[in-house]
Amino acid sequence: SQVQDVQVAKVKKAKNMAFAFDIDGVLVHGDRLIPEGQRALDILNGDNELGIKIPHIFLTNGSGKPEKARCDQLTKILQNPVSTDQFIQSHTPMSALADYYETVLVVGGEGYKCREVAEVYGFKDIVVPNDIVAWDPTIAPYRVFTDEERATSKPRDFTKVEIGAILVFSDSRDYATDMQIIMDLLQSENGRFGTKAKDPVSQRIPIYFSQGDLLCPTEHWTPRMSQGAFRIGLEAMYRALTGVDLERVVYGKPELATYKYADEVITSWMDQIHGEEKLPENIYMIGDNPASDIIGGNMYGWNTCLVRTGVFQGGDNDENNPANFGVFPNVLEAVQTALRKQL
Ligand code: G3P
Ligand code: MG
Repeated sequence: SQVQDVQVAKVKKAKNMAFAFDIDGVLVHGDRLIPEGQRALDILNGDNELGIKIPHIFLTNGSGKPEKARCDQLTKILQNPVSTDQFIQSHTPMSALADYYETVLVVGGEGYKCREVAEVYGFKDIVVPNDIVAWDPTIAPYRVFTDEERATSKPRDFTKVEIGAILVFSDSRDYATDMQIIMDLLQSENGRFGTKAKDPVSQRIPIYFSQGDLLCPTEHWTPRMSQGAFRIGLEAMYRALTGVDLERVVYGKPELATYKYADEVITSWMDQIHGEEKLPENIYMIGDNPASDIIGGNMYGWNTCLVRTGVFQGGDNDENNPANFGVFPNVLEAVQTALRKQL
């Protein structure tokens, strides 16, 4: 019948779409649920007129915890399943670096948690700044070291260790100590403490940052500085002290590599949901930050939806990076509008 034909056509269209959700400022504020987020996910998990699942992934610049732990936490908050197979946080694609470096310095977050993240990624020899402070406290003259920090540190003689790369995974909890240690390493001979490179470029070890956001919304009334601000500080210091520019690699939104990675995740998630491993034609990115979610999605040819529950607080649309599908009061309105358009 005609009704059935319409239904079949709708299912076909539904199978050609997917959503990519930003997390902070779209679905949650910290650990607090944005209620429209739960409803939006209920709909995509099958509570819709077709009764089918519509694939969605989570693409966040958040960091600092292993994927499994973060997904379990989000599952509870959102009251909807969040699998590690549909989840990308800022440092997720950095797991590929485990094949390239034997020993790495992992910076940011609560020291031991990022050590755990790096272990999950398969890094063999992981150093965190606290290990270095525990070995030689004079390296960070103003640092006050707690008993708990000492207990989770793994000091050794770092003049005998070659650190192959610096990986900034998450926000620094102590700019002074982390910047000092990073600057010492960047100016060392091949990542060995107690040495000073003759040539600042050829003997310099690489540095990677998991994301570039300048600002992050928090409980404070105006956003707080994030990893991008930390990086800019380091770049300025490095230039002032050595006279050369610091080469670095940045992951996360809006970097192209992260969107390419997201394509792979969407493609395999399509297989789990629809039994067909292909990239859908219509991908909707829902985000709150024009400078990361929206600019990245626009460049990548996705349909971008900007919501008003996070960083963006402007007028009709963002002036520099306007969302191409529209601006919405919240994530539920964005999802409903996208479904109406596609189906
Ligand atoms: O800025 C860091 C982080 O909290 C942003 O997370 O989910 O908005 O990409 P998200
Ligand atoms: Mg956000």
